[in-house]
Amino acid sequence: MTHVIVLGNEKGGSGKSTAAMHITVALLKSGYRVAAIDLDMRQRSFSRYIENRRAFAATKIVPLVFPETPRIEPSSIDSREEARRAETENFTSTLQTLSECHFLVIDCPGADTHLSRLAHAHADTIVTPLNDSFVDFDLLARMDPDTGALLGPSLYSEMVWNARKRRAMSGVPGGIDWVVMRNRLSATRANNKRAMGERLEELSTRIGFRLARGFGDRVIYRELFPMGLTLLDLGGADAPLRLSTMSHVTARLEIRSLIATLNLPKPDAASGEDDGRAAA
Ligand SMILES: Nc1ncnc2c1ncn2[C@@H]1O[C@H](COP(=O)(O)OP(=O)(O)OP(=O)(O)O)[C@@H](O)[C@H]1O
Ligand SMILES: [Mg+2]
Repeated sequence: MTHVIVLGNEKGGSGKSTAAMHITVALLKSGYRVAAIDLDMRQRSFSRYIENRRAFAATKIVPLVFPETPRIEPSSIDSREEARRAETENFTSTLQTLSECHFLVIDCPGADTHLSRLAHAHADTIVTPLNDSFVDFDLLARMDPDTGALLGPSLYSEMVWNARKRRAMSGVPGGIDWVVMRNRLSATRANNKRAMGERLEELSTRIGFRLARGFGDRVIYRELFPMGLTLLDLGGADAPLRLSTMSHVTARLEIRSLIATLNLPKPDAASGEDDGRAAA
């Protein structure tokens, strides 16, 4: 069975595509067969990241690992109902062709689309990167501005809740594991960091997600995109680039910590660098 990991958050720019690429490469480097689907047809950041990686491997003549990259296009049929039906058929038939893959990583757009909802309903694991700001928090839960008390779930949490309900009704065994990871954590804004941490801890038990340690705010993430590389490609004797600063080393530990927190299944077929552990 292919384990489906969905990167979702209707808030734009929270780090979905960056995290999707790092999770994909971590799993590939563990020897797993991985497929990657980009549902953000407008920006195509995840696809562009993989294209940049192919170009880098070709021009620098370095061996890099790659996922399979099936494409799912949005339907252009005028009737909304028909378009949704066509997208559902396209999505489910593409998933069936990927049964040989151990993992499927799906990157969703920062918007509510039918394909994004479908992906969430098929997820085994949902990863939600969240910028460390109460503006982003607002999509998860409503908060009383005076007391800071949680008033209830917001748009995106409702969407995950519906995906969980759909899955339970479909009879597919197991639930959806939802992991929220804080992103772009600032080294200086300690008060905001603490306040967000406390609210998220409180929320996690109320709406049912697990909290991952998250990524610090580091320029390296932006620098690696044009080369299609991830922090996991750096370091080692035959690496295309070296880990050059303490910040890079810490960032790599953050990625490994996220993978460990995801607690993904460990299918037998892996024969990669990490001896079959899901890259933890
Ligand atoms: N931890 C980080 N530190 C610094 N920059 C980051 C970090 N994570 C992501 N970025 C940068 O932030 C920008 C947005 O990240 P990304 O494209 O991954 O977000 P997204 O959620 O996929 O956005 P969208 O909703 O628009 O698809 C990119 O320029 C990326 O390089
Ligand atoms: Mg994106």
